[in-house]
Amino acid sequence: MLKQQKKKKWTIKQAVDYYGFKRWGGKHFSVDPAGFVQVHPRGDKASISIHDVVCEAVSKGLKPPLVIRFQDLLRQRVVEINEAFAKAIKEEAYDGAYRGVFPIKVNQLREVVEEILDAGHPYNYGIEAGSKSELLIALALHENKKSLLVCNGYKDEEYIRLALLGRKVGKKVMIVVEQVSEIEPIISISRELGIQPLIGIRAKLLTRGEGKWASSTGEHSKFGLTTQQILNACRDLKKAGLTDSLQLLHFHIGSQVPNILTIKNAVVEAARFYCELVKLGFPMGYLDVGGGLGIDYDGSRSNFESSVNYSLEQYARDIVFNIRDVCESRDVAVPDIISESGRAVVAPHSLLVVEVFDRISKSEGVFKIDPKKEKHPIITGLEEVLANPGGYSRLERFHDALQKKEEAFSLFNHGYLDMESRAAAESLFWRICRKIDSEESSSGYVPDELYDLKKMLVDQYVCNFSVFQSLLDHWAFNQLFPIAPLHRLRERPSVNAVLVDITCDSDGKISRFIDLEDVKDYVGLHPLNGNPYYIGVFLTGAYQDIMGDLHNLFGRVNEAHVFLDEAEEDGFYIEETISGSKVSEIIEFIQYKESDLVRSMKKQIDRATKSDLVKPREGTRLLDFYSGLMRNKTYLNIEPESKSLRQFRPASRAKKP
Ligand SMILES: Cc1ncc(COP(=O)(O)O)c(C=O)c1O
Repeated sequence: MLKQQKKKKWTIKQAVDYYGFKRWGGKHFSVDPAGFVQVHPRGDKASISIHDVVCEAVSKGLKPPLVIRFQDLLRQRVVEINEAFAKAIKEEAYDGAYRGVFPIKVNQLREVVEEILDAGHPYNYGIEAGSKSELLIALALHENKKSLLVCNGYKDEEYIRLALLGRKVGKKVMIVVEQVSEIEPIISISRELGIQPLIGIRAKLLTRGEGKWASSTGEHSKFGLTTQQILNACRDLKKAGLTDSLQLLHFHIGSQVPNILTIKNAVVEAARFYCELVKLGFPMGYLDVGGGLGIDYDGSRSNFESSVNYSLEQYARDIVFNIRDVCESRDVAVPDIISESGRAVVAPHSLLVVEVFDRISKSEGVFKIDPKKEKHPIITGLEEVLANPGGYSRLERFHDALQKKEEAFSLFNHGYLDMESRAAAESLFWRICRKIDSEESSSGYVPDELYDLKKMLVDQYVCNFSVFQSLLDHWAFNQLFPIAPLHRLRERPSVNAVLVDITCDSDGKISRFIDLEDVKDYVGLHPLNGNPYYIGVFLTGAYQDIMGDLHNLFGRVNEAHVFLDEAEEDGFYIEETISGSKVSEIIEFIQYKESDLVRSMKKQIDRATKSDLVKPREGTRLLDFYSGLMRNKTYLNIEPESKSLRQFRPASRAKKP
């Protein structure tokens, strides 16, 4: 039998490689020598220990599940995207400007949108709205008259009136026509109000997107106008005397486009449309390339759906170059470029922190039968497979163990094996599997069955959160997010696990993890040791916050908004906290009133008191408990174990030099 080799000491570098911090985190995430994950919000040396932020948030009563937003990182992304276009424009000697807009559908939280607009002010960075409600917010927040406010999405008369109200107060509001039926009301309402509208047209490109959101493009997309419809719209606008109003051509080929070739092709196709519209006599001036700029969630730099095979700089350069190239070939002046990047701006700035509070392991533990009892031959057989005196191969022992396990179940079902013996058989089977898994293959070849053994042995780490509330895209689209413990990274992660949430739904789990080559079915984590164990789900700032639902009535999670502050000993301060939903708030969505439920409960307790089932004082206590829970949060209330959280921070981190 092969002896297990003594494992070498686990290093921080191994942890960084294993969880892929450098690959997906770039200059923004690292691990310090004490094994704590650091965020570098500005991409420079200044860093914050995320574990410190969690401890501080917990001390303020904000327990995980917790969303942490690094506001400096958000600002940095706005600057990066604007600077990338500025650089490309300079390098390509492009004669137009970049006019980015933030699509607020990607994250509508006030603090997020305000931060983005503030950071984008020097660049005249604007907003995009996709619905009436979003436009109501956008109009109020949009104060920089030099920046654009782009109105996408299906529109009714109210939406159009609202957009024209923005024009009335001096804003550059672009109404982008998504449907033929929007043309007529735009003409008539602007005439009625005496306002000249600024109009864009969304083209239905034939260039198909790629990735999970590809259906936003192509002939069958529900958005945009076909070539024929564009020409009809042009005729209608000219007839209505609105030739000068048509200024923008827009396209959007879906979010998270993994392949730069798709982007180049779409830009070329759209630029051709743009030039044709100029030739038809419209002033134009803007080409809007929509969203789609992706995030390298798995760090593989590939055209796999959770990655991108291009950088931000390459994206900007290819857009600028291809637009100029097409315009030059048609002798048309280049347009100002608008992009509506949402995911790429907001995804990196926030993470979800979950706390593991339990471990479900089918293979841990040893069950021994009462020694006074006679052992069933199936048990002695399994014991022999475990001891392996004959020195049989791993595969042979695995097959023997499987056969005996099945035999044990059959004997139990037919009444020939008692519960104690069944428990012993199960325990022996998993011990054999663990042993086989821990032995190294002598030939280096691992048969499929033994490869799958690792998956069979995976534990479930139970975490206090809801996938449906906080990571909807993982459930709905299998979207991958980088996942790693926030601390203990000096220790070897010796437990292969999946994460399960606290909803009563077997889909409520994370069982797909990033991998450089493929997708992993589990992630290595640390054994639970009675102290809080925090796991970070990174790059969750786009779409996840607003799409979440209330499965099992788990509501919004706690939030902490963090700023760098080198004057503070930990290098940061929590500027704002948002407390997660209370039960009473959540139940109101579904038509229950806290007061009605409490009244009904009181009646029942009074009745029980009258019938002597409870004592009067106990009854009041029961009612207080019931109504108190209404004002509590919806997640499990896990109390930290005996020691204080702060105690688990290494001495080296207590004071920063
Ligand atoms: C019209 C439009 N613009 C912009 C975006 C944002 O896309 P992304 O988050 O990929 O940048 C979307 C989202 O799908 C969209 O529908």
